[in-house]
Amino acid sequence: MERLVNLNVVDEIGVVSIDNPPVNALSQVVREQLRECLQHAKSDSLVKAIVIVCQGSTFVAGADIREFDQPLTQPHLPDVLDAIENSKKPVIAALHGFVLGGGLELALACHSRVALQDTVLGLPEVSLGLIPGAGGTQRLVRLCGPLTAVDLVIAGNRITAFQAQALGLVDRCVESDIQTKAIELAKYLIHTNQPWGRTRDLSITPFNADEFEQKTSMLLRKKVGEQAPRAALQAINAALTMPFDEGMACERSLFIERRQSDQAKALRYVFFAERALISRTRRLAARGSAASIQKVAVIGSGTMGSGIAICMANAGLNVILIDVQDAALQRGVKVVDDYYRDALGKGRITEQESTDRRDLILPSSSMEAVIDADLVIEAVFEDMDVKRQVFRQLDVLCRDDAILATNTSYLDVEEIADCTNRPQRILGMHFFSPAPVMKLLEIVQTTLTDTAVLAAVLGLAQRLGKVAVTVGVCDGFVGNRLLAAREKEAMFLLEEGALPEEIDRVMRSFGFPIGPFELRDMAGVDVAWRNRQGRFPQLSEREQRCDWVDKLYAAGRLGQKTGSGFYRYEEGSRRAVPDTWLSNLLEQHRSQFNIVRRNITDKEIEERCLYAMINEAAWLMENDIVENAGDIDLVWIHGYGFPRYKGGLTYCADRIGLNQVADSLKRYNPSAGKELSAFLSSRKSFHDN
Ligand code: 3HC
Repeated sequence: MERLVNLNVVDEIGVVSIDNPPVNALSQVVREQLRECLQHAKSDSLVKAIVIVCQGSTFVAGADIREFDQPLTQPHLPDVLDAIENSKKPVIAALHGFVLGGGLELALACHSRVALQDTVLGLPEVSLGLIPGAGGTQRLVRLCGPLTAVDLVIAGNRITAFQAQALGLVDRCVESDIQTKAIELAKYLIHTNQPWGRTRDLSITPFNADEFEQKTSMLLRKKVGEQAPRAALQAINAALTMPFDEGMACERSLFIERRQSDQAKALRYVFFAERALISRTRRLAARGSAASIQKVAVIGSGTMGSGIAICMANAGLNVILIDVQDAALQRGVKVVDDYYRDALGKGRITEQESTDRRDLILPSSSMEAVIDADLVIEAVFEDMDVKRQVFRQLDVLCRDDAILATNTSYLDVEEIADCTNRPQRILGMHFFSPAPVMKLLEIVQTTLTDTAVLAAVLGLAQRLGKVAVTVGVCDGFVGNRLLAAREKEAMFLLEEGALPEEIDRVMRSFGFPIGPFELRDMAGVDVAWRNRQGRFPQLSEREQRCDWVDKLYAAGRLGQKTGSGFYRYEEGSRRAVPDTWLSNLLEQHRSQFNIVRRNITDKEIEERCLYAMINEAAWLMENDIVENAGDIDLVWIHGYGFPRYKGGLTYCADRIGLNQVADSLKRYNPSAGKELSAFLSSRKSFHDN
């Protein structure tokens, strides 16, 4: 059998070395061989102490997630870790790279831990719908106290080696030669008769119970709908109230229950969808040169433009923020200044970083400033004529090898590219607001976009730390197209008798952070109105009739910014208050069109909103707008708050069954038949290839 774990005796030290690339995951074979090597080391009289070290770029980054869809196999990790902890010879963990999940649990079972300075440690199990399943909660509470356990286990925070040392989780931090330093520590322990012992025997140091209570309830409030953080708290409480073995049994049974839960399955799906996207991005990016982009010009210094400039500066790029209107430019500069002042005030960056990054952004009111930019991102008003005018200018002013991108959120990128002499160097870079915070970036590739151009921009997206999803040209791309489908169905529901607050409540209880009408008020009714104006001739008769957006716009109710939209807002508050203005408007509409209001159940609201989106997702697949269905899920998870623990839209659709979705759509709206995507009615699933 392939050797993934080896034992070498160096002087009196048994060095157990794990070599299971890429991340030394604790697969069944690794667990088996680790146990075997430990037994040999324990029974070898020449070995006085044991060091566990990993080959490659990282220590153990966790259990092997690919095994979680299969039944549990022996040896179980807790048993292997017990064997380590009960060793009569001290066992030292030599940490580097990522020490995550089962990897940190392995380290906790050792008697001492030494880490390279840049090591990252954490228990990310909750992000996979799990809790630590090999003593992580029980040992961490004993070693570092329950407050640290809450940070790592429930919040899923990662910490640096220095932070871990301050918390008593790591005994020594070293600059280099981790294996040598760990061997030195092992020798020191055995030759100086230093006391060493089992983590399980430590008693829990007194802690502030009120702080513990406050911290956990604050965290759990943020994790509405997620089951794993609640199970994690149960396991931490078991550590606080039970003897070690009982606490371990409690943790294990919670872990096994979580492992087979629907939420854990959905989160595993998202984990692998993200990994698949990352490796496709890396592969494609390798075909171009991201390093060729050093200087970026951003045209338009509104919220999006200044946010994009900040993203670029945060990644160390030189930026020219251009706005030909002086007043707008000054507002943009203020947004940038406020951002860095705030980040510094909140301790997110140092004074030096704040100054350095701020200095990378140079404002200019002249379009000529684009002259030596490698990449220009246009973020002006969302209007085709305005954008085409800007691109014509850019085409004349920019270097021939410059890449030109538009930040449009729904306009036809091909039509924009068409007015230049370099359509092959043009693409869309659709950032989400607030740009420095939101991870998602839709990269819109036209039929003419050069592969090397796409590759360079994907490489840049990696530098920016974005989840970059490449999409094709269509109205609204992936994100806003699905949003429009949901909004359209929500408008029909209003016409039939539902109220905005009912629809928003149902969507929030599904797991969205905000409902469609609250979102519309936040994003601006004027944005929807403008979009509607542009597409009015293509709208169906019913869409034209459901004209609340036009009426709100005419009444100056543009959303939160004007104090009213679908809801009203008290002065200085963002809390949406249901408004009789709107319910009266809906009543008038129904009586005008002889529509009898009916009671609509929550189930119908949820199904109609979701199924309309699923139908649109099927259209995206049918028209090759995305390469695979997982990308649709990632766009909505990272850009629109689709609950990650539900796996994403197409994942949910497969669970429901595409036939069932199609049948329901037809049942709810018999005339919807012609709008049904062929993909939806002909395929069994989004994910069968
Ligand atoms: N199991 C199986 N495969 C894993 C894995 C794991 N725990 N972690 C990463 N991989 C795979 C990835 O799928 C990817 O495979 P691919 O090349 O075929 O796409 C490959 O390893 C490299 O991963 P990344 O591209 O993500 O590499 P990075 O260097 O960017 O990141 C990392 C490395 C930070 C370790 C990141 O992969 C990560 O966060 N992994 C998950 C860590 C985790 O969640 N651990 C806890 C697992 S649950 C557990 O331990 C339960 C325990 O309590 C019993």
